[in-house]
Amino acid sequence: MPDLHHRLNERAKLVSLILSGRSVLMLAPRRIGKTWLMDRVKEDLERTGARAIKVEVAGLSTEQEFLVELCKAIENAQELRERFTAQVLQRLKQLSGNIESGGLAQAAGRLDPRQFLETLVQELNKGESKTVLLIDEFALFVQEFAKRDADAARRLLYQIRKLWQGSGNVVWFLTGSIGLDEIGRRYDMAGALLGIELIPLEPFSAEEARCFFEELQAQKIIGQFSFADGAFGYFVDELGWLSPYHIEHVLKLVDVSNGAASVEQIEAAFGKILSPNFRLHFAAWDEHIEKNFPPDDARAMRVILGIAAQHAGGEVEATYLARLGPGLERRKLLNHLTALVYDAYLVKDGERWRFRSGLLRRYWIEYVA
Ligand SMILES: Nc1ncnc2c1ncn2[C@@H]1O[C@H](COP(=O)(O)OP(=O)(O)O)[C@@H](O)[C@H]1O
Ligand SMILES: [Mg+2]
Repeated sequence: MPDLHHRLNERAKLVSLILSGRSVLMLAPRRIGKTWLMDRVKEDLERTGARAIKVEVAGLSTEQEFLVELCKAIENAQELRERFTAQVLQRLKQLSGNIESGGLAQAAGRLDPRQFLETLVQELNKGESKTVLLIDEFALFVQEFAKRDADAARRLLYQIRKLWQGSGNVVWFLTGSIGLDEIGRRYDMAGALLGIELIPLEPFSAEEARCFFEELQAQKIIGQFSFADGAFGYFVDELGWLSPYHIEHVLKLVDVSNGAASVEQIEAAFGKILSPNFRLHFAAWDEHIEKNFPPDDARAMRVILGIAAQHAGGEVEATYLARLGPGLERRKLLNHLTALVYDAYLVKDGERWRFRSGLLRRYWIEYVA
């Protein structure tokens, strides 16, 4: 089976950047395949002889929790489990009389977090091969941490920046499904991200989506059907946002066995996924705005989306301004529109801002607007 959709270009690029010592931040909306890609990059790196340690930090909100996760991952990494862990513990004991028994994770609770992290990275840096710290959903963690204690979050971010600049053998690969630049601005820590390599992750192209479709069939995740004339093009255009998640869930609902799915049958699958039974597939889009923006911004963004949903072709800036009323200055509107493009709700098409996915637009009309 061809593997066009296996992100081979992205993987090669990431591995080569990382091995050259550059730390990387990959921001893209959820369910586009960041975690999948990170897992593959981890394997690719390990094949080159690098040490790769992956932690998932969504849901964490303190530095202590973050360090404990990192320690657990180090203690689980086969090649680090014994000698390295003993070596770090030895070093930590020299720094603090407070550490007696237990492993790394326990020691993390007994030392100043900054000193702990610095010591850990210094020791990893002494290794002969590169160590890559892969931190999945870093942006969500930073946001939750900043909500609790913005100063401490800022300090951690600046410390990590110092670490990635100063420890050539330890490289960071971070992902996030919310705009870390926006959080940086909100909590006054945008400077901490300067110098990191920003790599976007795009949804699949039509060819990649086609290939992914074949993989889903080979794995029997979706039914055995082909696309009748024009049906695949219709699917691609109407979905508008070719994330593996949405492709899979719509195609699961195509009701054709051993035949060719027509445009009408694809349309029927779209209809089904918009029904109350399946609307949960879109709930994250709905919640995202409430969860990740301050209440005033979230309110304005919802109004903007409500206006955008009225026409498939969207609206021009002046229309949004007029409809939002005098309370919203132009700069703010543009910031919101940009954030909505960034998070893949909207695209700018010439002078018009419209929903990127026809399907999401229909969901919005049906359930949100
Ligand atoms: N390139 C790919 N090939 C095959 N399946 C993929 C690919 N990328 C993502 N997936 C699948 O799509 C779903 C969403 O991907 P995930 O990595 O969890 O997204 P994210 O981390 O961006 O939210 C998962 O089930 C994942 O296995
Ligand atoms: Mg993920």
